[in-house]
Amino acid sequence: MSDKLEKGPTTRRRSTFFAAAATSATLKEANGKSTVGRNNKVSNAKQDCYRNSKEIVQDLHTTAKQRVKHERHYFSCHKLQESLLSSSSGYSNYRGILNWSIVMLVLSNARLFLENLLNYGVLVDPIQVISMFWEDPYSWPAACLVIVSNVFILAALYTERRLSLGIFSEQLGTTIHGVNLMTVLCFPMFTVLILDSVTPVGGVIALGVYTVLFLKLYSYKDVNKWCRAIQHTKARSLSRSLSCPADPPAGPSGHRANKRKVEGQVSYPQNLNYGDLYYFVFAPTLCYELNFPRSPRIRKRFLLRRLFEMVFFMQLLVGLIQQWMVPSIQNSMKPFQDMDFSRMAERLLKLSVPNHLIWLIFFYWFFHSSLNFVAELMQFGDREFYRDWWNSETVTYFWQNWNIPVHKWCLRHFYKPMLKRGVSKWVGQAAVFLASAFFHEYLVSVPLKMFRPWAFMGMMAQVPLAWIVGRFLRGNYGNAAVWMSLIIGQPIAVLMYVHDYYVLHFDGTEAT
Ligand SMILES: CC(C)(COP(=O)(O)OP(=O)(O)OC[C@H]1O[C@@H](n2cnc3c(N)ncnc32)[C@H](O)[C@@H]1OP(=O)(O)O)[C@@H](O)C(=O)NCCC(=O)NCCS
Repeated sequence: MSDKLEKGPTTRRRSTFFAAAATSATLKEANGKSTVGRNNKVSNAKQDCYRNSKEIVQDLHTTAKQRVKHERHYFSCHKLQESLLSSSSGYSNYRGILNWSIVMLVLSNARLFLENLLNYGVLVDPIQVISMFWEDPYSWPAACLVIVSNVFILAALYTERRLSLGIFSEQLGTTIHGVNLMTVLCFPMFTVLILDSVTPVGGVIALGVYTVLFLKLYSYKDVNKWCRAIQHTKARSLSRSLSCPADPPAGPSGHRANKRKVEGQVSYPQNLNYGDLYYFVFAPTLCYELNFPRSPRIRKRFLLRRLFEMVFFMQLLVGLIQQWMVPSIQNSMKPFQDMDFSRMAERLLKLSVPNHLIWLIFFYWFFHSSLNFVAELMQFGDREFYRDWWNSETVTYFWQNWNIPVHKWCLRHFYKPMLKRGVSKWVGQAAVFLASAFFHEYLVSVPLKMFRPWAFMGMMAQVPLAWIVGRFLRGNYGNAAVWMSLIIGQPIAVLMYVHDYYVLHFDGTEAT
């Protein structure tokens, strides 16, 4: 039909052209302006005629086009196009679907919450939370451990001061730092294992503080060592330039500019004091710097908002754990003891929902509310505590973006130094994950006083998982794989530990 429509006007257009040309010529002749012998006038007339006919043809073309458009508007209602849900359509606005997902999530969780309340009643108990920290109100072993950690901080400062004065050789300094760092890891571990009065929660907090301190003191030692190396290099090049001055000396203006540049900036070894070290110990970073970026002032509204979030989300976390996680875990014990695989899978999926929700709330509570609160209070300028890990399409991207303080430390003090020594990328990454696996296991097994390799294996499994996801999955599929590993992977580890803990402490008799 459209073919016919297009052929029609073309034929009509051609015949109209000749007719118009003839009409124009006849009209001119009739006016008496065209005579034999006056060739130039004839040619002008011919040109006019040609121009006029061209305009007419153009007009006719336009009207024909309009007519075709008009006819098409009424007759043809199809065009070449893909369905919206086909990936080749290029459509990407799924805002409505996202809202639908949120509504479904709220509704299904509201049902689960109601079911939980009907089954178990209200289980939230603030007194029980306090007893998890302090079994005996007159014995505070975890808090004492945290206070004792000051000894190791002062030992690091003392060693650095001696090194800066040249009283300690580099080798001696490295040995003392090594011993100090090993003690930072071993002393709380043995204390938690030996003292029965340390509760699992108290143990996790104390060991967490010591782990952070270990990473900070390691960074402190490294950066001061780099400063000394730069100082020696400068001193050597200065002595060389004094014996053979290569550059002309800087003029008075240049000197002033240099002075202005370093004004307010701390340089080595002026940084080796209590204030500087304790600022770093409390700052929300694991990587030491002589001059941290500082925010100009404390924003009170921002600070209060973060404080409110910290308190609110902390309560919410505790409430969700007591009301939702604990009964789910208790109900999962029997299928695990009977090795009933289908029931185990059902329990695992059931646990994955509260576990994941709690993990997400924990992420916001810790990385956004708490770290920003501390940073605002200390006017610490660098607030990049996390990046957009939720868009991760690879496992590698997730680990690069979810915990920036740890990732920065790993890169600066472990991974890059290894690469510089010629270690291959894969071996370097495996070594970082091995160290990370060790710390995860340290933070779980020691407080529970029960050595099981689940956390270690979970971290080490990230290396092959990263390879598989990176090799076989792309885009949304990769993103879904990362989410799946988070949603399902964590409750597996949680259930393993809780199961073993129950078996060890209650001999399976209380598990129902
Ligand atoms: C292992 C890990 C550090 C790898 O990080 P990555 O960003 O994938 O590493 P890449 O190979 O891409 O290289 C990163 C950096 O090294 C640099 N680099 C690469 N090869 C180098 C070499 N031969 N020499 C020096 N630097 C090199 C890159 O330029 C890049 O530098 P940039 O960050 O300044 O751009 C990261 O996956 C990680 O942090 N894993 C552990 C996370 C963890 O356990 N977190 C615990 C949270 S609870």
